[in-house]
Amino acid sequence: MYKETEFPESLKDVIIQDQLDGAKFPQLLKGEIHLWTASLALSAEKIDALRSLLSPEEQKRASFYNFERKQQSYIITQAVQRVLIAAYLDIEPADVILIASKKGKPFLINELSLFFNNSNSHEICVYAFSRDAEVGIDIEKIRELPDIDQLIEKNLTSREKAYFLKNSDHKLSLFFQFWTFKESYLKAIGEGMRLTPENLEFSLDDGNITLRSVKYGFEATDWQFLGFTREGGYTGTLTYQTRDTVIREMN
Ligand SMILES: CC(C)(COP(=O)(O)OP(=O)(O)OC[C@H]1O[C@@H](n2cnc3c(N)ncnc32)[C@H](O)[C@@H]1OP(=O)(O)O)[C@@H](O)C(=O)NCCC(=O)NCCS
Repeated sequence: MYKETEFPESLKDVIIQDQLDGAKFPQLLKGEIHLWTASLALSAEKIDALRSLLSPEEQKRASFYNFERKQQSYIITQAVQRVLIAAYLDIEPADVILIASKKGKPFLINELSLFFNNSNSHEICVYAFSRDAEVGIDIEKIRELPDIDQLIEKNLTSREKAYFLKNSDHKLSLFFQFWTFKESYLKAIGEGMRLTPENLEFSLDDGNITLRSVKYGFEATDWQFLGFTREGGYTGTLTYQTRDTVIREMN
């Protein structure tokens, strides 16, 4: 059994949590995935406090972002991830050691069996944690895209495009949904741009998301997909491995 720890003070008012009692940090059991949501719209004071939790390398990377908004979202995203990992492992945030794979997927040196992934868009960041297997998560704010038709043409397969034609009234929200199906899968398997979106084919049937095919024989594992939304017009997808996993939304 994993130890129960106090809810980290530094995450108060950052993690969007209206249902947790906030007193104890939840234990992550095998067979579960925890989903967290953090706000990226924080005061300068709060962002400064979070910046101090970053490793020296992360602080250096933060200083390279020219746009203040990008810098702030990087600081919050990384600091919250570090504090959540530390709470799961019952260690200090400064003792969390992360490195990235060649294609950029971060993993933990401290404990190879804690899997996690994050994604941010506009004003929120979402996180997934598992003790069983790799996870991938992606979130997007649904927003107007002037080049929507070109994006559909470039990123979807013929069968996906046919589905979009039949559902053209919802093409913008559908596009973001399919985008997050593909990105969350690419993030679960740790691929970056190498396996481009038109090489993956998904279907959406009555809310059920299915990966129909993947070209080039990447990852035949039977992945599962959960679509979710967040207040403010966000759509997201979690990709995970085991069918009967219990997914706990921490908000
Ligand atoms: C790596 C990639 C998946 C990240 O996606 P993104 O939308 O830019 O950013 P997100 O906020 O969702 O995720 C960023 C986080 O994912 C993680 N990440 C980075 N590379 C990763 C990889 N190869 N695999 C898994 N996770 C990765 C990191 O924690 C990163 O956070 P950081 O930049 O603060 O360190 C993306 O850059 C990419 O290569 N996309 C290609 C696929 C594509 O074109 N999809 C279109 C679908 S229609």
